Amino acid sequence: MHMARKPLIAGNWKMNNTIGEAVVLAQEISNNFEKDWLETVDVAVCPPYTDLKPVYSVFEFDKLKVGVGAQNVFWEPSGAYTGEISVPMLTGIGCAWCIVGHSERRQHFGETNEDVNKKVHALLADRTRPIDPIICVGESLSVREEGTYVAFVDAQVRAAFAGVDAGVAKDCVVAYEPIWAIGTGRTATPEQAQEVCAAIRVTLADLFGQETADSIRVLYGGSMNEGNADTLLAQPDIDGGLIGGASLKAASFIQIVKAAL
Ligand code: 13P
Repeated sequence: MHMARKPLIAGNWKMNNTIGEAVVLAQEISNNFEKDWLETVDVAVCPPYTDLKPVYSVFEFDKLKVGVGAQNVFWEPSGAYTGEISVPMLTGIGCAWCIVGHSERRQHFGETNEDVNKKVHALLADRTRPIDPIICVGESLSVREEGTYVAFVDAQVRAAFAGVDAGVAKDCVVAYEPIWAIGTGRTATPEQAQEVCAAIRVTLADLFGQETADSIRVLYGGSMNEGNADTLLAQPDIDGGLIGGASLKAASFIQIVKAAL
């Protein structure tokens, strides 16, 4: 069944790159990219909102089907929500992806499981020009050390997917990003990452049935780089990566894409 899932390598640029820097990075990625890789691997970059259109335009001009994704979205379509960005706005730009529930948003901006669920529903509501959610889950160091991380992640997955139909759940991607591995250089071992990614699939099978669970991609994220991507991606339940720091250099990002071929 693993072969049925096309890997996804997604770069999360976080709050990095002004427009000029973003265009340079996107162009470097494009210049070093071989289009036929996309037959075997899906690739996306998720820049800050202000860079979405310029980055989209670089890939569009080069006719390179690297997807562009946002890092967050608000669930209402429009209205008096100063500072927020809606699903139709992302659709208008040409976004194919949207990260939801990243641990940094949960930690620094108070996002709850309920907020994450509303964002997932908002993204899944219109499938005509689909923006597929990349739903982030993952435990803190203290939860890891308590040993309750599988139950913790199971609860996050159930909350994110509450009220979602199996028919559209298959369009979602889940990213397991243990907080203790993010930006720390302390990557989860392949075994640690595989254990939780497999557990996430068990939860998805319980929610939506085995066939749907087998079609949903589960990514690993947390200090993934060109040196460790191979062994992580070789795990049966790891279907790609969500990459922070190493996605900010074209050469490293390209090496990780190649590791997924
Ligand atoms: P790093 O790759 O910098 O650890 O970040 C991972 C991450 O949070 C991706 O969303």
